[in-house]
Amino acid sequence: MLAVALGISRNSVTAVYEQLGAEGYVESDRQGTRVAALQHPSAQSSARAKSRPPDIAERSLHIRERSYSAPDTLALRPGVPALARFPIGAWKNCLDRVIQRAGTDLLGYGDPLGEMPLRTAIMRHLAISRGVRCEPEQVVITEGAQEALALCVRLVTNPGDIAWVEDPGYRGAQAALACGDLKMVPISVDAEGLRVSAQAWKQQCPRLIYATPSHQYPTGAVLSAARRLKLIREAQAHGAWIIEDDYDSEFRHAGAPIGAMQGMVAQAPVLYVGTFSKTLFPALRTGFLVLPETLIDTVAPVLRATLRGGHRHEQLALANFIESGQFGRHLGRMRRLYRKRQALLREALHDYLDVPHTVMGGESGMHLTIRLSEDYPDQRIVESAQSFGIAPAPLSQFFLGPSHADNGLVLGYGNTSESTFVPLIQRLNQVILWGADSNKTDHKSVSRRRRKE
Ligand SMILES: Cc1ncc(COP(=O)(O)O)c(C=O)c1O
Repeated sequence: MLAVALGISRNSVTAVYEQLGAEGYVESDRQGTRVAALQHPSAQSSARAKSRPPDIAERSLHIRERSYSAPDTLALRPGVPALARFPIGAWKNCLDRVIQRAGTDLLGYGDPLGEMPLRTAIMRHLAISRGVRCEPEQVVITEGAQEALALCVRLVTNPGDIAWVEDPGYRGAQAALACGDLKMVPISVDAEGLRVSAQAWKQQCPRLIYATPSHQYPTGAVLSAARRLKLIREAQAHGAWIIEDDYDSEFRHAGAPIGAMQGMVAQAPVLYVGTFSKTLFPALRTGFLVLPETLIDTVAPVLRATLRGGHRHEQLALANFIESGQFGRHLGRMRRLYRKRQALLREALHDYLDVPHTVMGGESGMHLTIRLSEDYPDQRIVESAQSFGIAPAPLSQFFLGPSHADNGLVLGYGNTSESTFVPLIQRLNQVILWGADSNKTDHKSVSRRRRKE
């Protein structure tokens, strides 16, 4: 009857009934076929579920969403390297060579700590360029710096432990620490980097300290040698671990080269974190963690039990890219490019940014931070600038608490062509002035309203 009613073949109807029966939607017996009595969530309970807050862990509820996000391609977006300058052809050759040589041999699980040739290549590179002292066994390949930070939290802290974070500081690190239920204590930053008082060690002694000593994110300060040594000594004395996030230290533009804290003192209590997101490209999602020698025997079995090895072709191609000298040459080219871009961005700011501002940092990396007066609220500027394809980050958003937040903009010059700096800064200048005008209007209407009241 159904076949006739629908104008389809009897075989199709039989096949559909069989399928429905196999999936449990209909039940058949000698009396016929009926719709199965399935348990439907009642309309009432689904309405209740909608009104209830999502049932996720408390710690995740405390992670602040980034109030700004912009595509990598927008101008002046911080944190993005010169993507168009990446030697994609050379990278393809490295990958092709690995696949050709290995055939199907690399399709199974790899070493959970990463492919040994890559760990060795990273160890050699870090020894020469950053003064990091380690054996390849201490190097763990991670999914970017972000996974390395999460591992540090998991390996050396317990929920409720105190963690010091730079204020202002990197939001990704704050999120990783929040996931470990750590009590975050903001430590302020000045022109010499993290400013730790003797009182802080006494009153809020940390288990973990997160720092970007080579190039503080976002202020650009470089942690002075005296403060580095003091931090290491105090951490040793108090049983604390330091995460050294060395994210963009390869691009040093001024002053003497400064090695990593990890290599300054033998047996320093430092968990060294690095990434290829800035030196190569972010989508590679490859970073590394250098574990202290004293931890390796205890920690390696935990990592082997909790991680799975993969991305083997990419890891071996990267090892080849480093060992063949192509990585070093790319770094050299990018260093020169970023140096030039920074100089031209400074010039454009000097010549075309009329609003009073102070430029901070610039000894390393791919960004400059400018401080602006409160008359030019950074969040509003960032929102308006995006509609013109300009994506600086608001400085105030990098502070843990709003009470002592500075106001300003973080300008990335890594992925923005220097030929566009002048029109971009002219446009940014206009956006800032418009924002200030509407701010004044807002203030006026508020005070008018207050007077009326
Ligand atoms: C301070 C800091 N650390 C690390 C990273 C890189 O993280 P990932 O390797 O997870 O891309 C960034 C990127 O913006 C950063 O600003």
